[in-house]
Amino acid sequence: MEQSQTVRGQRQDLHSYSNPEQIRVKDVSLDLDVLFRQKVIKGTVTLAVQRAKDYKEGPVILDSRGLDVEKAESSADGKTFAEAKFEVGKNDPILGAPLTIQLPPDATVVRIRYASRPDASGLQWLTPAQTARKKHPFLFSQGEAIHTRSWIPLQDTPGVRQTYSAKIRTPKELLAVMSAENNPNPKQRGEYQFHMPHPIPSYLIAIAVGDIVFAPMSKRTGVYAERPVVAKAAKEFDDTEHMMQAAEELYGPYRWGRYDILVLPPSFPFGGMENPRLTFATPTVLAGDKSLVSLVAHELAHSWSGNLVTNATWRDFWLNEGFTVYIERRIQEKVFGAERSAMEAVLERQDLEREMATLKPEDQVLHINLKGRDPDDGFTQVPYIKGMLFLRSLEAAFGGDRFDTFLKGYFEHFAFQSITTQEFLDYLQKNLLAGNPELAAKIPIDEWINKPGIPASAPRATSDAFTKVAGYAKDWVDGKIKASAIPTRNWTTQEWLHFLTALPEKLDAKQMAELDQAFHFTKTGNDEILDQWLLMAIRNHYTAADARLRSFLIEVGRRKYIKPLYQELAKTPEGKAKAREIYRVARPGYHPIAAATIDEILK
Ligand code: BES
Ligand code: ZN
Repeated sequence: MEQSQTVRGQRQDLHSYSNPEQIRVKDVSLDLDVLFRQKVIKGTVTLAVQRAKDYKEGPVILDSRGLDVEKAESSADGKTFAEAKFEVGKNDPILGAPLTIQLPPDATVVRIRYASRPDASGLQWLTPAQTARKKHPFLFSQGEAIHTRSWIPLQDTPGVRQTYSAKIRTPKELLAVMSAENNPNPKQRGEYQFHMPHPIPSYLIAIAVGDIVFAPMSKRTGVYAERPVVAKAAKEFDDTEHMMQAAEELYGPYRWGRYDILVLPPSFPFGGMENPRLTFATPTVLAGDKSLVSLVAHELAHSWSGNLVTNATWRDFWLNEGFTVYIERRIQEKVFGAERSAMEAVLERQDLEREMATLKPEDQVLHINLKGRDPDDGFTQVPYIKGMLFLRSLEAAFGGDRFDTFLKGYFEHFAFQSITTQEFLDYLQKNLLAGNPELAAKIPIDEWINKPGIPASAPRATSDAFTKVAGYAKDWVDGKIKASAIPTRNWTTQEWLHFLTALPEKLDAKQMAELDQAFHFTKTGNDEILDQWLLMAIRNHYTAADARLRSFLIEVGRRKYIKPLYQELAKTPEGKAKAREIYRVARPGYHPIAAATIDEILK
């Protein structure tokens, strides 16, 4: 009795108003018009629902945010519908509003006629100027964590899984794609159909509409992008098939059919989003030398961790991201070798430690308490890197082969389910720890899951290449070597990043100019390096980079890049004035999620 109480308590999603324990959505069927002039998606959603045995009557409660609901109907057979009473509750700034629909006891289908609003938090409507060809507008959705409710009324919790299908009408010149089966060469332009036969959580329902084309990479992988970008993207990502094979060798077959990548315009606020069958990706990873494609390994890895086995609530987010970073590293090792993977691991550890130092103790734990908070508050390096380190430490204690077998079994056991941290821990106990109490004793589980900081026993990545790079950085700072004399010819992006972060925070004008002259950082085509350089430029008042900073902040909306730059600018009064001036121009082009983050910094 007590046990099941806690289990139920753990599964409760504080970020949804819905009542799946009473009545549960099993299928979502969309019939929508994408109206660019109004910035509105409009039409119907038809939900198949199933009552729990002890919930013989009573309403279904859905999540919504800023939706205009015109009508609700219900049906017992899916054919004849009768109008149903509905009510939109009070709006909460984080959660939106419950949409309660009264249903007769025998109802199995609910149909809602509705429209999204132009400021929907889960959609970004781009003007033609924000695209590569500058001819047509563009739309994309971003559901995670709780934004799908701003364009579809449904049970917006990762604990509920549903199949989905969609009929989407767009302007004729544009192509629509979704996180589902689709035909890359539809017969009729402007009318598209999709079907996702596997039950997925709502945050993975995704759509994009734009002037995009398709380029195949392998039999089951390809790229969608705007025409000027597509060839470059297909080249950059042409190891995707190898990555899939590496992941399949480790964790069993890829279960989703195709794996395509959609390269979005630069305002996409994230690096990538693991929408099933169709990863959404920022164009900022197109460095031209494949040096940033670990992003693909990451989003692909979510096909197992996250999409196949899903966090039941946003408290359990580390189950999605920690596992995924772990798998990403394993794929990278197999495809690009141990040295590069080690370099990426060192950089990650640095990122974690740097961010950890700024976080309150309660935000440094894997099983984070998000009561009364936006799930976005949990989006730090902690679930990602600390989560990965926890798995690495299990791997180190139990041996690679045993841990591989364990993880493969885990994905099989929980396939197409949403689980809590406790359910994972129970499975871990039974299937790995119990068999070897001596080894298990080496892993401080409670410390990993519930305590701040990084356990001292966490494995530490090292890289010989990085040791050399740091040596040159020090010699240059000490005046022992000129920048132009450092042997950088074969440096990888990771080595450049390590070089820049190994330098002291304060450099004088002469030093900044010497670096720029020797390495042309201000003109680099690698956005990851550029971002790090611009941060240093702000810190050290290196005004020669001002123009590039301005154009970067206006063009690129990737939050990971722009947030630290605005934060750094905001540290001085002149910087803040400059930031405000740039932001006035940049803000209309930012995604609502990115704009909210920057608003907070510059308020
Ligand atoms: N699922 C995340 C993106 C996400 C998480 C969006 C939470 C909204 C809320 C995705 O898989 C991710 O982690 N993307 C990273 C890049 C990755 C290589 C670490 C990102 O966008 O920075
Ligand atoms: Zn991820």
